[in-house]
Amino acid sequence: MNEPLVLANGICRSFPNGRNASLPALIDIDCHVDAGDRAALVGVSGSGKTTLLHILGGLDAPTSGSISWPALGARDELLLGKVAFVFQAPSLFPALTVVQNVALPLLLMDKQVDATARAREILAKFELLDLSEKLPEELSGGQAQRVAMARALVTGARLILADEPTGQLDSSTATNLLDLVLDIIDDTDTALVIATHDETVAARLNRRWSIDAGQLRNDAKPARKSA
Ligand SMILES: Nc1ncnc2c1ncn2[C@@H]1O[C@H](COP(=O)(O)OP(=O)(O)OP(=O)(O)O)[C@@H](O)[C@H]1O
Ligand SMILES: [Mg+2]
Repeated sequence: MNEPLVLANGICRSFPNGRNASLPALIDIDCHVDAGDRAALVGVSGSGKTTLLHILGGLDAPTSGSISWPALGARDELLLGKVAFVFQAPSLFPALTVVQNVALPLLLMDKQVDATARAREILAKFELLDLSEKLPEELSGGQAQRVAMARALVTGARLILADEPTGQLDSSTATNLLDLVLDIIDDTDTALVIATHDETVAARLNRRWSIDAGQLRNDAKPARKSA
C-alpha cells in the first residue's frame, strides 16, 4: 500500500510580481503522496495550497526542484483517469447538464463503459440524482461542489486532489460528503489530498501537512485507518 504516486524534491514555484520581481509561492518543498494516503493540506489564505495541489497533479510545473509520478507515468499522462481534481473555483461546464458533466471524464477516456449509466450511479451515491438534468447555473454553490466531487470520483482515479471541496457546505453536509468519499475509496489504494480550512475535515484524514508562506510542514499525526 505504500507505492509512491508523487515524489517532490526541493520544489519552488515563483510567480512574476511586477517588474524584475518574483513572488515565491512555494519554497523548497519535499513531499510525497503514497498510494492509499488520506492527507489534509491546511494553511491560511495565500499560503500556497492551490499552487501545491496543481503541481502535485501536473497542471503546473515547479520553477525549480523535481517532481515525478513513479506509479502513474509522465506528466502528460496524468489526466484522463489517473489524477482527478476538484477545483477551488467553480469548474462545471456551464453548457452541460449535471449528468453530462459527471459523464464527461469517462467519455474523454474513451472507455468502453456506459458513461451516462456510470455517472447516474455515482450521482445516486451522492443523493444528487434529482439534479441530473439541471444546468450548473441552476445549482447552489454547495450542490455544484458535490457534483464536482462526484465527477472526480467517477473514473476511479488513483490520486484525487480536492481544493476546499467543502468550502461552501454547512458542517453536517461537509461531514456527510467526506464520509461518503472515504467510504467510496475505502479498501482501494486511491490517494486523497484535500486542501481545507476546516479542522474537522483535516482531523478525519490520517496525514496532515501545514503550509505557511510557501513552506510545508509535515505535522506528526498517528497513522490510523479512516473510520
Ligand atoms: N497565477 C498566479 N500568478 C501570480 N501569483 C499567483 C498565482 N497563483 C497564485 N499566486 C500567488 O501565490 C500565493 C499562493 O496562492 P495560492 O492560491 O496557492 O494560495 P492558497 O493557500 O490556495 O489560498 P486560498 O486559501 O485563498 O485558496 C499567493 O500569494 C497568490 O497571490
Ligand atoms: Mg486556494
